[in-house]
Amino acid sequence: MREHGFNMRSKRFAARAGREINYDSFITEWPETGLVVIDSPGDPRPSIGIEAGRVVEMDGRRESEFDMLDRFIARHAIDVKCAERSMAMDGLGIARMLVDIHVPREALVRIFAALTPAKIVEVVGKLNVVEMMMALMKMRARRTPSNQAHVTNKREHPALLAADAAEAVERGFSELETTVGISRYAPLNALAVLIGSQTGRGTALTQCAVEESLGLRLAFLGLTTYAETLSVYGTERAFRDGDDTPWSKAFLGSAYASRGVKVRFTSGTGSEALMGHAEGKSMLYLEARCLKAIKGAGSQGVQNGSISCIALPESLPGGVRGVMAENLMAALLDLELASGNDAMASHSEIRKSAKLMLQFLPGADFIFSGYSSMPREDNLFGGGNFDAEDLDDYNVLQRDMQVDGGVRAISEEQALAVRRRATEATRAVFEELGLPPVTAEEVEAAVHARASADMPMRNVVADLEAADRLLRDGIGGVELIRALARRGYAEIAGKILTVQKLRLTGEYLQTSAVLLPGGRVLSAVNDANDYGGPGTGYQLSARRKAEIDAIPQAIDPRRVGQVSGPPPVDVLAPAGEALPSGDPLDVVIAIGPAFGERLRETLLGLRHEEVLAALISGIEQEGMRPRVVKIHETSDCGFIGHAGAQLSGSGIAVGVQSKGTTVIHRRGLEPLNNLELFPQAPNLTLESYRAIGHNAACYAKGEPVLPVPVQIDNMARLKYIVKTTLLHLCETGCVRAVGAEQMVLNARERAAG
Ligand code: 5AD
Ligand code: CA
Repeated sequence: MREHGFNMRSKRFAARAGREINYDSFITEWPETGLVVIDSPGDPRPSIGIEAGRVVEMDGRRESEFDMLDRFIARHAIDVKCAERSMAMDGLGIARMLVDIHVPREALVRIFAALTPAKIVEVVGKLNVVEMMMALMKMRARRTPSNQAHVTNKREHPALLAADAAEAVERGFSELETTVGISRYAPLNALAVLIGSQTGRGTALTQCAVEESLGLRLAFLGLTTYAETLSVYGTERAFRDGDDTPWSKAFLGSAYASRGVKVRFTSGTGSEALMGHAEGKSMLYLEARCLKAIKGAGSQGVQNGSISCIALPESLPGGVRGVMAENLMAALLDLELASGNDAMASHSEIRKSAKLMLQFLPGADFIFSGYSSMPREDNLFGGGNFDAEDLDDYNVLQRDMQVDGGVRAISEEQALAVRRRATEATRAVFEELGLPPVTAEEVEAAVHARASADMPMRNVVADLEAADRLLRDGIGGVELIRALARRGYAEIAGKILTVQKLRLTGEYLQTSAVLLPGGRVLSAVNDANDYGGPGTGYQLSARRKAEIDAIPQAIDPRRVGQVSGPPPVDVLAPAGEALPSGDPLDVVIAIGPAFGERLRETLLGLRHEEVLAALISGIEQEGMRPRVVKIHETSDCGFIGHAGAQLSGSGIAVGVQSKGTTVIHRRGLEPLNNLELFPQAPNLTLESYRAIGHNAACYAKGEPVLPVPVQIDNMARLKYIVKTTLLHLCETGCVRAVGAEQMVLNARERAAG
């Protein structure tokens, strides 16, 4: 780089180039390939033709031109009775109804059931993201928001899976999904997560995401209770690449549901473009087709929001808005919405959090369709947009905004307790079922682990053989319940049995069903979203609010910084009223009302006697006579200094608040004027106080003075404002309308300074 000249880079641009956001990929639109979020020139215009109760034209295509998806949607996902009327409505008019609190959800659900994919996109395309959030708040199916967690680990360690599952449920997650690195592990992983899911609070549905026939077998065995692996795509060719049709997906969905297993489909923008089969259509138009197909297939819900493809829409203009739009479209079709947020969406924490807010604030049935409950290095879903180490952030966001994000903070003891119980139960079950033993050492490791790297190695071959045997011998929920009961884990066994019973009644096949303690089910049937403006819809109960507010980091402000009892007599002792001095060598050190008494140290933790000793030594160094005076009638730093200056023989005083904020004052100056002010107490060291004393003495002698240099710390206010407030409150509480008091310092303390 040349020193002068035109080729030199801006150092600010260079600094920004290194920021996380610039590791993300950004491209311009390319509609012909589907690399456009909304409004591709290739998108059809909305239209409908109904003849004899049958859709004969849809979005510009006549029945004879229908592809596989058109046909499925036309036959199974358009309310033909209302179609002509709804399609004739003005798109902008419908968009306005979405944000109009006087238009109830049900009215809109009826309209959208009769709209074609192109029309749905036209409507949501009229909304900005804030309007989409308002619409989602009204349109999501279940009133109470909830959340889903990922529970996996690289080593596929069963004890760790059980421990993590138990902790995740304790933290409030109402669905847990695991998956496998090696598919043969599936039954063992499902078993471990199932045990953990019913330990402690124990109220989650569980899934093991694997290839469909294996997924079905696990569900039939009672080792899992929901499935959301049923992917659909918005073009025929993308579907065909997946060896599927909407009919085959509908059949599969019914197979799960027939055994009381909750079904949720998966779709999301970007998949068709990624596969090269977007047919020149926009991502949102294709997603609208997916959602209609999902509705037609009879699924109660969907996980969408681009899911694994998230970085693709995010590379394009409007990508994050587009993801929100697809979430909203799902809700408009009366589908339970599990709004992605699972896959890594950006290198930038700012961008990730901003994106999350679109679903977090209005609430979704599941705000994450997979919050990584363990560190992302162990996330076998390849995601972990938010992970175990972001949980405190997440809890604080809930508390900040008084928003229910479906999670609660728990104490370390609580976490350790449920982790221990789940791992010990797993150990017992493995022994009962003749599976490769879980050792005491593994239990200990799983209870305390951060990630699977902390776990002892297992015999992989033996575990895989055991997993095969579970499937071969048909060992499932019932055998697990028996094993737990035999070993004294009746409570966990009872909870698993309760969930199995609910499978028989089909209780949680209702839209948006989640389990509550005691085998109760919360769904869009008994907890329908009834949002209709302020004061309606989901409200934080007093109990839930207390839970969200009570993060363990929150301390009682009444107890900060204060000491009880008398000051140590050997530090500071009162010696009568402080009078004005005529001694030109007199320099007053004026201290605040709590100094050395109710408070004993500065904000930074410097002991008050050390601060005084430093000031004294700085003053004495210049041959002046320091005099310590307590000012009782004010806690304001400027006024303390000002009061001291009125008493000072030299006219110079140093004013020190108990929290350490310091001023050098001179008689004749206005109270809020001064010679030098040190407002950021945290930046003051004992060396600074000595220099302040020295300067005060120089002022007193009338010598030229170089102001004491102070550091600028951008974080100081952030770090200390709470403690500052509390210390100042304490000091102000000590203010009394009495005269200034002469203080004597113990000689030993002075010598130590
Ligand atoms: N569209 C459809 N299916 C998706 N999946 C992930 N992202 C998408 C998407 N955008 C699928 C995965 C897996 C399941 C959990 O979700 O391929 O089968
Ligand atoms: Ca999921």
